[in-house]
Amino acid sequence: MTKIHIPVLLEECLESLSIKAEGFYIDCTLGDGGHSYKMLSRLSSQGLLLSIDQDQHAIDFVKNFYEIPSNWVLVNSNFSKISQILIDNDITRALDGILMDLGLSSRQLESSHDRGFSYQADNEPLDMRMDEKLGVTALDMLRASSEKELTKLFAVYGEERFARSIARKIKNNISRINTVGDLTGLIYGAVPAAPNHKNPTRRVFQALRIAVNDELYSLEQGLDKSFEILAANGRLSVISFHSLEDRIVKNFFDKQVKKDRGELLFKKVVVPNQEEMDRNPRASSAKLRTIIKI
Ligand SMILES: C[S@@+](CC[C@H](N)C(=O)[O-])C[C@H]1O[C@@H](n2cnc3c(N)ncnc32)[C@H](O)[C@@H]1O
Repeated sequence: MTKIHIPVLLEECLESLSIKAEGFYIDCTLGDGGHSYKMLSRLSSQGLLLSIDQDQHAIDFVKNFYEIPSNWVLVNSNFSKISQILIDNDITRALDGILMDLGLSSRQLESSHDRGFSYQADNEPLDMRMDEKLGVTALDMLRASSEKELTKLFAVYGEERFARSIARKIKNNISRINTVGDLTGLIYGAVPAAPNHKNPTRRVFQALRIAVNDELYSLEQGLDKSFEILAANGRLSVISFHSLEDRIVKNFFDKQVKKDRGELLFKKVVVPNQEEMDRNPRASSAKLRTIIKI
């Protein structure tokens, strides 16, 4: 049985949001509901929690797993549409805090509903859409992109040193690629076995997933709109898992501070302690940043 996703930096997130019992909070990335449920437990019946996920399977899981009280609203959408979500749900009250815990949940990796998020899921199709209403799968993208475009994709979004040879190998064998296993086999064949070059498949999969889901654009839009709709003294906390995401969050926060629109809660980025990393290795690359709106 797939294990439930372990929420990362849980206590630190709750503390960063300084939750008021009667406040209104949004969890932009519901996943298995770990952060949301703890946030909810700090609210009174006058408080309100809105949790968003673009993956309908996440919403279905949480609805089955938890009892959903009337002050916990679940919405299947992309957090880049956060302002519209409030309008659609007739919510006009002051917003006290927003959480984003970016990327994939461990459930999506381990029990993907045949979407091939994990480079270990050999027999799954190369789909990678978190939101199955999106049109383009990872395989469509591999087929439609030129060698040059794939090289750029793997180099920029995957920070992969052997991007060009991987892209060439893929384009030369494109008719043979259908599954995760077909792709990972080719990647290993395209990269020299070097002890200091570990796990190129992970980086290629990260790049494809970012592109298929347009993750960095959603993040930019989501940050912009979230900060806009926050009340004064409201807090925005973001956990990122790789440098591309973290750079966007850091730059966005720094820009607000420069414009005197916000102040950083922590001088230094918050990372998991050793005990958390031992208990949940997935947390190792997590970074938490929080901004308070002025
Ligand atoms: C790391 S998991 C969140 C785990 C959650 N905090 C928990 O404790 O279980 C990230 C979740 O955010 C969702 N997600 C990622 N990007 C999104 C976006 N732009 N809009 C809405 N949901 C998104 C994913 O589908 C995934 O379920």
